[in-house]
Amino acid sequence: MEAAQRVHKGLEGVYVLESSLCLIDTEHGKLYYVGYDVEELAEKSSYEEVSYLLLNGRLPRRSEFEAFLTKLRSEMELTPEEKRDVQYAAKRTGPMDALAAFYLFASKDPPQAKDQMEHAIKAVAKAGSVLGNTIRVQRGEEPIESQPELGIAGNLIYLVTSKRPEQYQVEFLDDILILHAEHGVPASTFGAVVTASTLSDVYSSIVTGLMTLKGPLHGGAAEAAYYQFVEIGDPDRVESWLERTLAEKRRVMGFGHRVYKIYDPRAKYVKAMAARAAELAGGRVKTLYEIAVRLEQAAIEKLSSRGLFPNVDFWTPIVYTAIGIPPGYFTAVFAVSRVVGWVAHVLEYWKDNRLIRPLHLYTGPEPGQRYVPIEARG
Ligand SMILES: CC(C)(COP(=O)(O)OP(=O)(O)OC[C@H]1O[C@@H](n2cnc3c(N)ncnc32)[C@H](O)[C@@H]1OP(=O)(O)O)[C@@H](O)C(=O)NCCC(=O)NCCS
Repeated sequence: MEAAQRVHKGLEGVYVLESSLCLIDTEHGKLYYVGYDVEELAEKSSYEEVSYLLLNGRLPRRSEFEAFLTKLRSEMELTPEEKRDVQYAAKRTGPMDALAAFYLFASKDPPQAKDQMEHAIKAVAKAGSVLGNTIRVQRGEEPIESQPELGIAGNLIYLVTSKRPEQYQVEFLDDILILHAEHGVPASTFGAVVTASTLSDVYSSIVTGLMTLKGPLHGGAAEAAYYQFVEIGDPDRVESWLERTLAEKRRVMGFGHRVYKIYDPRAKYVKAMAARAAELAGGRVKTLYEIAVRLEQAAIEKLSSRGLFPNVDFWTPIVYTAIGIPPGYFTAVFAVSRVVGWVAHVLEYWKDNRLIRPLHLYTGPEPGQRYVPIEARG
């Protein structure tokens, strides 16, 4: 096989585009959005400001941010028609599909008619309101009005719990949304860009992103990590559980990463949040945290020599539980946050669009096979 004809399975090691949105420094375990350390952004910024940063490639001046927030907040409330769409989808599908259905319905408006940035802002603003109401409907409750002044994180918690959230809960979710907003070109972002490269629209790209994130090799590890902690049940059972798990060649969920071979910087940040969440929420959250701490230590001893450390999904289940997000919705919360990453990539890609059309290496029968009519095939 000639070098030019080599297939790069899984596109591993292949650069597919140029982007100024994020830098993953795997050597030092750091992640930057447009040059800003995500840990500093999580500490000092808000998901809304980070959304501006990703969509515009720079932090806003005060007046620009105020205008952006006004626009974003005006889009957070769902129209009566959108609420009906959410109810329809939520009753028939899972949370990721319900989110996708919403954007599918949104793409019925002629999307090229407006400025693409307006669609992008609308897409980001609606995500949390759609998910919050989807959770309500799937629990047998009615959709309710959003509270845009609570921000995207606070409003999502409000919709899920029907209560004004505690300040610490808003801060936790806001930080998690920031940490999940962007991560280069994982499968879902690549999928979104492939869709965009055909000059399809922003909403259709989000649908592709959502449906690609849904797979268990991409989203989904936080939920699996949660059930793993539940299965362990007691910190004293961690070591025997780990022995058994590794002997059976099962994986520790929330460990390992395709690009990080050292501690995932997002995991480091969320671990500190999980400690605070355990202290503040107590009870079950504390037990989950104690199990996780002991499992982390035992698993690092066994797995770190192979470059396996906790990833962000190891710690988020504890924080989600403290906030009141049920485990079946962890991936969907990740998706709500990642909408801005997908859209930012799409807008960036369109600045120098090139239809994505790779090649395949043919491995089938010799060309020129003779067609035998079905009656003669036996
Ligand atoms: C994330 C993940 C898919 C990355 O995988 P990858 O880079 O493709 O690595 P591989 O699946 O090829 O695994 C390499 C080796 O490490 C082992 N390994 C990887 N993750 C492991 C884990 N979480 N627990 C135990 N062993 C693990 C594999 O069994 C394999 O061992 P082998 O060489 O003896 O067969 C993988 O680490 C995983 O499945 N983790 C658990 C799920 C998870 O937390 N996903 C969230 C990602 S953000």
